[in-house]
Amino acid sequence: MGREFIHLFDDWAKSYESSVTGQDKEYRDVFEGYENILEKVANASTGTVIEFGTGTGNLTLKLVAAGRDVIGIEPHESMREITGRRCPNIQLVDGDLQNFSIEDKVIDSIVSTYVFHHLTDEEKQEVLKTYAKLLQAGGKIIFADTAFASEEHKLAQVKKERARDFHAVADDLEREYYTTIPKLQTMFQEAGFDVIFNQLNDYVWYMEATKTRETINK
Ligand SMILES: C[S@@+](CC[C@H](N)C(=O)[O-])C[C@H]1O[C@@H](n2cnc3c(N)ncnc32)[C@H](O)[C@@H]1O
Repeated sequence: MGREFIHLFDDWAKSYESSVTGQDKEYRDVFEGYENILEKVANASTGTVIEFGTGTGNLTLKLVAAGRDVIGIEPHESMREITGRRCPNIQLVDGDLQNFSIEDKVIDSIVSTYVFHHLTDEEKQEVLKTYAKLLQAGGKIIFADTAFASEEHKLAQVKKERARDFHAVADDLEREYYTTIPKLQTMFQEAGFDVIFNQLNDYVWYMEATKTRETINK
């Protein structure tokens, strides 16, 4: 599991930039403020950074511009190719949120945008424990992704999208593993992180989780 949605990017790899720039009306609200969302994630990162799901390299470019040492992990070949072309000096790995192999070095931050929902909640919980082992005390996970304040908010959003005939985005919400903020909060805490959340648009939440010292000492 975990890679079951990557075929969706066979076609989307070619038109992804038009989606993130608001030209696909169904996804306009999902990508509202896209550039600022990526900037916020890049700016909060430090040092050596693992980025999951680089896609076309938009966040990767911002990380490189901010002087980060980036290890990009992307399962889709076409996406990996595009990131590689745009960011030739980073280390780019064929891997995913759950399965990846990197050289043994200190990781300061783990980042991703619009990716974490590809895992079920059980899978999310498992990988957060793995990421905790990669980070030192004070190390951060910084994600931005679609999530909802509650299941009711999610259902209301699906209803709203169906009412305006945006069935592609409504189907997407029902197909993939978009979770709630209370569930994410529990997952991060159980993996040994202090976490803060900020809602950035109708869909996307920023989450910044800091590994606490207590976990290290356990
Ligand atoms: C919606 S795009 C986001 C791309 C980029 N991060 C951005 O913000 O524009 C999702 C990306 O995650 C990748 N992906 C899909 N499943 C994944 C998984 N299990 N682990 C890591 N990346 C995955 C896809 O191939 C795609 O490149």
